[in-house]
Amino acid sequence: MVSEKTAPVAVVMGSDSDMAVMQACIETLKDFGIEPVVRIISAYRTPQVAAEFAETAAKNGIKVIIAAAGMAAHLAGALAGQTTLPVIGVPLISGSGLDGIDALLSTMQMPPGVPVATMAIGAAGAKNAAVLAVQILALSDKALADKLSDFKKAQQKNVIEKDSALQ
Ligand code: RP5
Repeated sequence: MVSEKTAPVAVVMGSDSDMAVMQACIETLKDFGIEPVVRIISAYRTPQVAAEFAETAAKNGIKVIIAAAGMAAHLAGALAGQTTLPVIGVPLISGSGLDGIDALLSTMQMPPGVPVATMAIGAAGAKNAAVLAVQILALSDKALADKLSDFKKAQQKNVIEKDSALQ
């Protein structure tokens, strides 16, 4: 268990049923050498825990919060309302029948003054949340910035190789 006092990124999800998709986020952070705090906190089912977590996150050394939820996804917004840390929201498909559009709109349509940086629905958003968190941290971390640069180059190489294989 990683102490919140030493982890710069928190990955919070509304239910353990979100874990399968959010594993990609956690693994991507680990690829960059970041071991995140991982929590299951529900804005609806455990609202007091959500409030306490958000209120104390900065004091505990967290610099970026990633919040993932499905259905009427209030988690990212609820946390954003109680902290000055950047909050990245990941809307998830949850079997509600709306394919994550419900969570996308709930996460994204924040009122003025309380932003949530909203990612794509599902797996792509989970991975991008990790990359965006790294980009934020890399602004003041040269080693992380170098890793990001390598990451971008590896992505480019991968696509170029796939293109070359077709020629
Ligand atoms: C949301 O409701 C969770 O983030 C999850 O995506 C969805 C369903 O939760 P469970 O009923 O599977 O716990 O709050």
